[in-house]
Amino acid sequence: MFEELELIKSKCLNCQKCSLCKTRSNVVFSDGIPNSKLMLIGEAPGYNEDVQGKPFVGKAGQLLDKIFASVGLSREEHVYICNTIKCRPPENRNPLPEEKLACEEYLKAQIDIIKPQIILLCGNVAVQSILGNIGGITKIRGKWFNGGDYVHGAKLMPIFHPSYLLRNDSRVKGSPKWLMWQDIQEIKKAYDSLN
Ligand code: URA
Repeated sequence: MFEELELIKSKCLNCQKCSLCKTRSNVVFSDGIPNSKLMLIGEAPGYNEDVQGKPFVGKAGQLLDKIFASVGLSREEHVYICNTIKCRPPENRNPLPEEKLACEEYLKAQIDIIKPQIILLCGNVAVQSILGNIGGITKIRGKWFNGGDYVHGAKLMPIFHPSYLLRNDSRVKGSPKWLMWQDIQEIKKAYDSLN
């Protein structure tokens, strides 16, 4: 089953379907374990990810690892991490519709092959690519959504992007960091209840 994933990955590493192939240093396909029940989908690679070819390895990624570690989860043992698009947009601008469309086959294949039971949608770009325009992240974070057949019945939860948390450092009750703490505990509970 994961041979299929390797095939998709090698296709993706040579992809020239959109113009981001001209500016990228590396394609950023995934990190973590493919036989995972828990998938996190981010937005797009940034500078560090482009250099290293791995998702979430910069400051936001380090914070993400800490958030997972606070409930005993790690990318080495529990989580599969990928992005909505696999190549860095110049200056870290938001992905364009045509870039998301070109890259959709890779994200869809990752979901189809791994069939995670829980998918975390990290930030607005990931939310929109799976659930469409259902509202801003502040309103919908921490709620469970059913993505239907497209995600093989997985439970979906939008969460704040760690870059947003880096810009909003307060931990007081009701702050984004405090809310993230509630959300990761809810996620861990759902993870533990999976068979
Ligand atoms: N932000 C993302 O959304 N993805 C990464 O891989 C890095 C930063």
